[in-house]
Amino acid sequence: MKEYKYKVTAAGRINVIGEHIDYCGGRVMPAALSLKNTVYIRPNGTNQINLEWTTLSDKVTLDIGKLESYKDLKYGNYQAGAALMWQRAGHKIIGCDMLQDCTVPFGSGLSSSAAIEVSTIAALATLAGEPLNKVDIALKAQQAEREYAGVNCGIMDQYASACGKKDSVMLLDCNTLECKYLPLKLGDYSLVIANCKKPHNLVESKYNERREETDEALRILQQKLNISCLAQLSPSQFKTYGSVLPHLLKKRVEHIVTESDRVRLAELALKAGNTDMLGKLLNSSHASLRDNYEVTGREPDALVEAAQGQSCCIGSRLIGGGFGGCTISLVKTDSIEEFKEFTYNAYLKATGYKAEFYDTEISDGITVEKL
Ligand code: GLA
Repeated sequence: MKEYKYKVTAAGRINVIGEHIDYCGGRVMPAALSLKNTVYIRPNGTNQINLEWTTLSDKVTLDIGKLESYKDLKYGNYQAGAALMWQRAGHKIIGCDMLQDCTVPFGSGLSSSAAIEVSTIAALATLAGEPLNKVDIALKAQQAEREYAGVNCGIMDQYASACGKKDSVMLLDCNTLECKYLPLKLGDYSLVIANCKKPHNLVESKYNERREETDEALRILQQKLNISCLAQLSPSQFKTYGSVLPHLLKKRVEHIVTESDRVRLAELALKAGNTDMLGKLLNSSHASLRDNYEVTGREPDALVEAAQGQSCCIGSRLIGGGFGGCTISLVKTDSIEEFKEFTYNAYLKATGYKAEFYDTEISDGITVEKL
């Protein structure tokens, strides 16, 4: 990589708790991973961005004057969308060669797309000699996901990908974008990430539909209450006013209200070193995603059940947009190998799919190295 000028990375992420509440103004608890997208970049003196990958034979050229026309590319669409949003925000895009190296598994619920979008913008800004504003980069990457990739997502993934900190979880208020960092201390336990390997696609899945449902529920509740987002609804207000909602929307809102409360309790549990309590919160988060928000599915449920059935595991849940992807489990550190073996076999038996486990650490968000 010697001939490249900079090496810029952005992270994949997990979310400890606070699922499907970022776009309702809730507080979420993600963490950046050492699984990441790395961009090697150098200027090429043209008006084009040449893209290559370490893991693909494809080569793609993007014309900097026509960035809006690459939505249908199989590879390179996220980079084009990110560059376009950056350009629209008034930044100069310099013609360049980019080599992309992504270790976040695609379609896994670990936010490979956010890692690609965030690292692409950070690399373009670095090459142009601009100071990096990580929050601003996250917001432009989110805009690319929404307006270019067509997923009406919240800010959690891009924020975590950009602003994560080694060995810390983030407590991100998605309403104000205020963020606190808490050390992830789990005592004798570790987080194990497992992929159910059922292909999922946020655009085709019900993600956008859930967003519409929550928007509709908010409109109805606002006729009775002075709230600007669903996460502001307290459990007692939900008890009093929940019945104004049709049955389905009431279930969706019950998830938002209880999940917001679980984030509050998870913060207390982490601060008190109460890993058992955190485990229980993971379990109830999964149950709520399954029964009230209905974003899990046969395979994720089977993977979580296989994990929860073991005495070395004190909590397990699906993370991310849902309908497939990854789970996280809190597992006794000295039982991790047995845990993986049992889970793999039980899950294979239940579904026919082969679960995959990732060895990864909680890591930094954007990093920049001059080569
Ligand atoms: C996806 C979205 C996020 C968030 C999660 C669910 O990852 O990109 O904004 O809504 O789903 O918590």
